[in-house]
Amino acid sequence: MALLETRGLSKSFGGLKAVSGVDLKVQPGTVHGLIGPNGSGKSTFFNLVTGVYQPDPGSHIEFDGHDITNLQAHGIAALGMARTFQLLRLFSEMTVLENVMVGNHCKTSYGIVESLLGTSRVRQADQKMKEEMLDLLEFIGLANFADIPAGELSGGQRRLLALGRAIAMKPKLLLLDEPGAGLSPVNVDKLMETILSLKERYKLTVVVVEHILKVVMSTCETISVLDHGQKIAEGPPEMIKNDHAVIEAYLGRELPDEEIRNAIRGQ
Ligand SMILES: Nc1ncnc2c1ncn2[C@@H]1O[C@H](COP(=O)(O)OP(=O)(O)O)[C@@H](O)[C@H]1O
Ligand SMILES: [Mg+2]
Repeated sequence: MALLETRGLSKSFGGLKAVSGVDLKVQPGTVHGLIGPNGSGKSTFFNLVTGVYQPDPGSHIEFDGHDITNLQAHGIAALGMARTFQLLRLFSEMTVLENVMVGNHCKTSYGIVESLLGTSRVRQADQKMKEEMLDLLEFIGLANFADIPAGELSGGQRRLLALGRAIAMKPKLLLLDEPGAGLSPVNVDKLMETILSLKERYKLTVVVVEHILKVVMSTCETISVLDHGQKIAEGPPEMIKNDHAVIEAYLGRELPDEEIRNAIRGQ
């Protein structure tokens, strides 16, 4: 059974169909790529499945056996879906460790009163949580920065921290919207390696929107392609690379996606 399934997923903004009748299945344990030219509906798709936007009538979204079509974002997150944003939303005044602990906090079992009273159960739980979070920071290579404010990290390190904070929620499904935006292709490659090892270690299923097609081709088992809000192709990388409609979508018009055109041309 698919972990995430959309049927007829649509979203209009005024007269514009940002996402239009998308049927998509994400199989558990896979890394699933979502690609398409700028404005093709990728971020909107993420906003729909995470409950940020309400889909148009007739849309269906299922996650891990639950109908989440009309659930709100916090309800969907509680079922085990986490995401990162195209624009990072880190707390730059807070330390690196505090940033990941915020991600984890919704997972703690004790209530706010207990937390305020500082019972020994809470102290023990807090200690255990802190160790787990330090372990996560170690794994993503940020342990040495645990106590510095997130605002002092480099661009690449902030990308890693955003990833760490999403993983701290212990999600079943992780949605990554251009996790490598602003990084050089080499650093994006490294980031994707980290994502793959995190996926193994934390038994995640991942859906990733990524601009650099070469990276998507080498990391994703299945790729879905959006164009003008519609799914125009889907399959393993080899198939997508040679798909006429996909090549047309990228090459057939003037777009600033130089990287993508080059990747398709095999440069
Ligand atoms: N909140 C919104 N209000 C109006 N139009 C939007 C909104 N969000 C996205 N759009 C439009 O929907 C289309 C798809 O956008 P988006 O999902 O961000 O594309 P992508 O992430 O693939 O670049 C674009 O034409 C965009 O301008
Ligand atoms: Mg986008």
